[in-house]
Amino acid sequence: MNLPDMKEAKKRGENHTKYVRQENLVSKAFLGKRYFIRTYGCQMNVHDSEEICACVENLGFIKTEDMQEADLVILNTCAIRENAHDKVFGYLGRLKHLKREKPDLMIAIGGCMPQQEDVTEEICKHHPYVDLVFGTHNIHDLGRLLLEKKRKQEVDVYSIEGDVYENVLYKRDSHITAWVNTMYGCDKFCTYCIVPYTRGRQRSRKMEDILLEVEDLVKQGYQEVTLLGQNVNAYGKDLEVPVSFATLLEKVSKTGISRVRFVTSHPWDFTDEMIDIIAKYDNIMPYIHLPLQSGSSRILKLMGRRYTKEEYLSLFQKMKERISGVAITTDIIVGFPGETESDFEETLDVVNTCQFDGAYTFIFSPRAGTPASKMKDETDLSIKEERLHRLNELVNHYSLQNNQAYLGKKVPVLVQGVSEKDPNKIYGYTDTMKLVNFSASKEMIGRIIPVLITDAKSFSLDGEIVSD
Ligand code: SAH
Ligand code: SF4
Ligand code: F3S
Repeated sequence: MNLPDMKEAKKRGENHTKYVRQENLVSKAFLGKRYFIRTYGCQMNVHDSEEICACVENLGFIKTEDMQEADLVILNTCAIRENAHDKVFGYLGRLKHLKREKPDLMIAIGGCMPQQEDVTEEICKHHPYVDLVFGTHNIHDLGRLLLEKKRKQEVDVYSIEGDVYENVLYKRDSHITAWVNTMYGCDKFCTYCIVPYTRGRQRSRKMEDILLEVEDLVKQGYQEVTLLGQNVNAYGKDLEVPVSFATLLEKVSKTGISRVRFVTSHPWDFTDEMIDIIAKYDNIMPYIHLPLQSGSSRILKLMGRRYTKEEYLSLFQKMKERISGVAITTDIIVGFPGETESDFEETLDVVNTCQFDGAYTFIFSPRAGTPASKMKDETDLSIKEERLHRLNELVNHYSLQNNQAYLGKKVPVLVQGVSEKDPNKIYGYTDTMKLVNFSASKEMIGRIIPVLITDAKSFSLDGEIVSD
């Protein structure tokens, strides 16, 4: 077993692209058997699960939504905060019981958690009923791992830091919108974050491989692609011949896909060229997720974020001025070690200035092995919870206010499916990534149609269909 090492992960190397040869691995042992998958974490993990599904279906498995009838259960895990970690161990307890009832059940754990050595050890020691532990770097090999599982418990978590695998198959969840990886890993090493350790050093895909994938999606009738990267706008910096993210965005836009989105951008890597390209092309959506993390320059420095409060605000202003109608959302951490009431008030100040369209807010969670986990943290959890509460109130106030500005407007919506809450309604997203629920025929699914906004809530809009 070879786990990522921080120094190794920091070393920049060549980009080695490997083109995987796809083989039919259908096996008698697995043909017609059922698999159940549960995914935690970010969009990257959601997309990884699409690859995992393709791998196991290539062995002959059929997907089930009912864990009780599964022959194989896969947990694709996340390690970003302690509660993600706890949820997985909680779920393992249920699987232990299930395995008692069904001794032939196979249990596989993948994703970011096993990329941490101590977690893998804990699974091996305390959860011997888990059959396979795999990581984020060897998903392309999952079929072989399941076929060759000989020992009682197989652990195959490794990190070939420089590798990028191409020609991998995906079983995409949607026929309308698709995730497209642009790069793997992250080089930023923000002091609180586990991602550079679980996903390794930044490795960009070659631009031509990304464009081939998008062109193929256009041919298949996809309407939207979301370019994925933990630090998507640092794309291309590690390639032998560096390419800017702005160039990639422009080329993806020119494939003719109706909508292009991208997540997640780091303020430090956001260039004027990117802003110009987003402003120039109608099919690049005017929506940017721009994590702030903290409004205090002192805390930002401790976080290793490489920008100050003022630099964030000036970038934000520039985006608002140059990209017509742009919606901007953010991520904020409260209770970082040493955060004082006045640091926190600076965060509230930025929220008041930026009036974000939305924000994901978190209480700092120490992750073993990260520099922040060793910083002195004397603030009581109750104070952190109270700060989170105050922050959420403010964030929700501005989300609602931004959403109310849509009332009475007619906006283009890409219809994506039937509403989970109300089967008589369908839902879709505006170009600014606002969720809209409305009544219309299911035949509209997959189309971009004008919708009149009739009601606004903090997290969604209601609308009705109108003629052009
Ligand atoms: N690469 C992205 C997303 C990283 S994870 C980025 O840089 O923005 C998503 C969010 O989780 C982060 O933006 C951060 O707000 C939060 N997060 C990451 N590590 C955390 C930790 N240790 N405790 C609390 N929140 C954390
Ligand atoms: Fe983590 Fe920072 Fe990289 Fe985002 S940019 S994944 S927060 S290290
Ligand atoms: Fe979680 Fe790994 Fe994503 S830690 S947030 S699943 S990169």
